[in-house]
Amino acid sequence: MARERVVSGGQLGPDEDLTQFSLRPQSLAEYVGQKELCGKLEVLVKAAQGRGEPTEHLLLHGPPGLGKTTLAHIIAHEMDSKLISTSGPALQRAGDLMGILTNLSEGDILFIDEIHRLSPVIEEFIYPAMEDFKVDFVVDKGAFAKVINVPLKRFTLIGATTRAGMLSAPLRDRFGLYYHIDFYPPEDLVKIVLRSSKLLEIEIKPEAAEVVASRSRGTPRIANRLLRRVRDYAAVKGDGKVDAKIAEIALDTEGIDSMGLDALDRKLLETIIKYYNGGPVGIEAIGATLSEEVDTLVDMVEPYLLKIGFVQRTRRGRLASAAAAEHLGLKLTGGDGQVNMF
Ligand SMILES: Nc1ncnc2c1ncn2[C@@H]1O[C@H](COP(=O)(O)OP(=O)(O)OP(=O)(O)O)[C@@H](O)[C@H]1O
Ligand SMILES: [Mg+2]
Repeated sequence: MARERVVSGGQLGPDEDLTQFSLRPQSLAEYVGQKELCGKLEVLVKAAQGRGEPTEHLLLHGPPGLGKTTLAHIIAHEMDSKLISTSGPALQRAGDLMGILTNLSEGDILFIDEIHRLSPVIEEFIYPAMEDFKVDFVVDKGAFAKVINVPLKRFTLIGATTRAGMLSAPLRDRFGLYYHIDFYPPEDLVKIVLRSSKLLEIEIKPEAAEVVASRSRGTPRIANRLLRRVRDYAAVKGDGKVDAKIAEIALDTEGIDSMGLDALDRKLLETIIKYYNGGPVGIEAIGATLSEEVDTLVDMVEPYLLKIGFVQRTRRGRLASAAAAEHLGLKLTGGDGQVNMF
């Protein structure tokens, strides 16, 4: 990431989720919200346990910070299984994966984060592992090349991705189950803020929890992060107790507005509205204007703006909505002087 954003759904540095580890729910019962998904997972786990078999491979999809990694750990916990964790970019050579796969025991869960970033070589390698619990390993080269067929123990692969569209079709098809995690409604985020406050021993008023929740872009990781900022502010500027006023001032000071948008969100919207007459404009052009990586915009910035209807993605490019313009106090006129409505 080009810069650190307080409202980014991604981790800020490798340590953040370590400090958040104590906040991470360990079981389905502790997991806040996503009731439908949790219901399905409960059935899945119970059915697999009833049969005495590992569950099918499953793919978790959703924007950063919504709880994919947390859910993978919870499934392992509920199944009483060991979880082995790796990520798409970490698996460079077939040998890396070979080592991991052959060390798996019956019922282990292999969690691959950012699975859309697996290299094609590794993907080819993983197909038979997923389908038939075996790997074909080529030893030697040229005329002496031999394929060795190595059987594996029955394991469950859990893949997590922020971009399901970037997964190849053959890989996607090999997952028996596919679950999408959506942004959390404010009432669930309030529960998460109150739960985390309790764990971190922060004295917070319910109205203050609502302020934090409403600026957390539907994302638990952001809610926890903002909560810590607010706590620090209350400790330095007040008596350590968090009320709505302190929460508001603290988050205003951080540049996070009432909708949870930060400077980068506002700059993106302003760019579409001011420089491109509300759009449509390609994401590459926006990235160039803002000197931001397109991936950052697509993964971290856009999903929430799409969710709240401030941006619309069309075949011809991105459009900003009248509501977005109003939020920024700007006037939106289309190229032909018409107000852009959708
Ligand atoms: N349902 C939930 N209830 C309570 N806390 C949650 C919930 N979901 C996530 N969290 C909190 O948010 C943090 C981030 O969640 P997690 O690491 O699982 O996100 P992720 O979807 O894997 O994100 P990424 O795509 O960046 O890997 C966790 O450490 C946890 O504290
Ligand atoms: Mg994760």
